[in-house]
Amino acid sequence: MEISSIRDQIAVIPGGAAGIGLACAQRYSAEGAKVAILDRDQENGVAAVAALEENGGTAMFTPAECTSESEMETAIAEVIKKWGKVDILANCAGGFHSAPPIEEVNASKWSHGIEWNLSGVYIPIRAVVPTMKSNKYGRIISIGSAAGRTAALIASIDYSAAKAAVGGLSRRLAIELAPHGITVNTVAPGTVMTPRIAVLHSSRMNQLESAMPVGRLGKPEEIAHAVWYLSTPGAAFTTGATLDVNGGSWTG
Ligand SMILES: NC(=O)c1ccc[n+]([C@@H]2O[C@H](COP(=O)([O-])OP(=O)(O)OC[C@H]3O[C@@H](n4cnc5c(N)ncnc54)[C@H](O)[C@@H]3O)[C@@H](O)[C@H]2O)c1
Repeated sequence: MEISSIRDQIAVIPGGAAGIGLACAQRYSAEGAKVAILDRDQENGVAAVAALEENGGTAMFTPAECTSESEMETAIAEVIKKWGKVDILANCAGGFHSAPPIEEVNASKWSHGIEWNLSGVYIPIRAVVPTMKSNKYGRIISIGSAAGRTAALIASIDYSAAKAAVGGLSRRLAIELAPHGITVNTVAPGTVMTPRIAVLHSSRMNQLESAMPVGRLGKPEEIAHAVWYLSTPGAAFTTGATLDVNGGSWTG
């Protein structure tokens, strides 16, 4: 197997209809992988698949909510029925709407953030592990966040906690799945210009850009580039890692 080739591999992207997930879908497709986008946004998901196919790619869309065990299991079963297996899982769903002080984060808001950003990663992983184990091969990459690596007042507390936990989940799972040829890694982006961020931070874009050592926000394709590396056969010795892709905004 060529170390940098994912040609003809099957890549599943929860949250692949927009932003970083869409950039991953485009990159995988350009590299010759078959791409399954699972997303709750049907309109964008269908449009994304049409655009990939127009460019000569092979893609499918299944509407699914990442926090729903039954919807994820059904969606993964559909991918396996169509293409036989899953080689790559890139968990790209997640987000937050605002960053209020703790007094305003009641238990239900807290649980929603944890569910969205942590269970929404655990559930797709659990759904793909059986097929990856039976193929003795897999690449699992989850999008964490710089907000889970260092303190960031622009993010909500539930989001920061969940994103930090994505790293913990991935590290623990990496050693469990290593004997099965499956790697489990996290990519932790700094602020990246995506549709969600354009709305969320519209009033402080200049401030965010000037706080970045590289002087600008990240591009979705720059995160996809890091995700692609971790998705390749040659990344077999990289597992349990968190790759910070943040323009130098946090360097450990
Ligand atoms: N953009 C950034 O600056 C940034 C920085 C660090 C981490 N991240 C993380 O990267 C990931 C993608 O962020 P983005 O900015 O590209 O977001 P986005 O909102 O632009 O795109 C996210 C996509 O995922 C889908 N989605 C979200 N939650 C879902 C769910 N529970 N079930 C099904 N589909 C769901 C949305 O419909 C959308 O298509 C998120 O996990 C986010 O936390 C983003």
